[in-house]
Amino acid sequence: ASEYSLRPKRLSEYIGQRKIKEELKIYIEAAKMRSEPLDHVLLFGPPGLGKTTLANIISNEMGVGIRITSGPAIERAGDLAAILTNLQENDILFIDEIHRLNRSVEEILYPAMEDFELDIIIGKGPSARSLRLDLPHFTLIGATTRAGLMTSPLRDRFGVIMRLEFYSVEELSEIIKRSSAILNIGIDDEAAYELGRRSRGTPRIANRLLKRVRDFAQVKGNGFIDFHIAKDALDMLGVDDMGLEHIDRKMLKSIIEKFSGGPVGIDTIAASIGEESDTIEDVYEPYLMQIGFLNRTPRGRIATKLAYEYLNYSFPE
Ligand code: ADE
Repeated sequence: ASEYSLRPKRLSEYIGQRKIKEELKIYIEAAKMRSEPLDHVLLFGPPGLGKTTLANIISNEMGVGIRITSGPAIERAGDLAAILTNLQENDILFIDEIHRLNRSVEEILYPAMEDFELDIIIGKGPSARSLRLDLPHFTLIGATTRAGLMTSPLRDRFGVIMRLEFYSVEELSEIIKRSSAILNIGIDDEAAYELGRRSRGTPRIANRLLKRVRDFAQVKGNGFIDFHIAKDALDMLGVDDMGLEHIDRKMLKSIIEKFSGGPVGIDTIAASIGEESDTIEDVYEPYLMQIGFLNRTPRGRIATKLAYEYLNYSFPE
């Protein structure tokens, strides 16, 4: 089975994000009663929490088509115009990493979202003329890691703005059990819980770890994943007790050892560990802040007492 098939197709199969499901159910039902497209939806939150999955679920629940693209893939205004004019009535346009749209493309999107109109300019110089075209009614679903990265005119045109939260260990264990059933993997409750505990609140990581632990169980055991197999496999993968990987520990250790625990700027941290600042901000930092290992201040990042203790450093009082 492909990874795609692990994605739930219906809202009722989707585990976690209770508030989002509750709200979406109402908006979807109301839009269907009125035979209208759903209002534009902005989904934001760290990678791997299910933004693309939710967009696909909305299209299934609404019974409409979906066209999937991303901010960086739409290079010129004409690319977006081509996509918009090819949509069917009530279709969904999903734009991942929507904060990375360039300015000229974004400006095409404003009248498209607001009035389902496309303003295009034909020709150059004194003979240039502008043309207005009607577009099919559509729903834009935008996804971004941080809502703050978007321009406010774009953000303001979404009727529904939803923030995805990290999943609880219980929700992640449930997802792991569901995925195991789909992939025909035997696993017990303790093992599923251990995997959930080390998946840093993120279903994408949970499913990735499950597949690696399955490999380990096949080669080192009889294929069944029990607690000891799960624990040994995760230890071998370098995923520690809190779900931290090598790069997370490297970053915290760098802040503690090289910068006396901070505050230190994100670009300085990035240079010291050889990572991109954006990757740190989008991928690593949100979970470290969630578990209380890292704080953001106006003067930079600080490693907390909890982080010192977890990594066996003495905290300077
Ligand atoms: N697989 C990945 N994310 C999931 C979720 N939120 N619910 C069920 N299965 C999933």
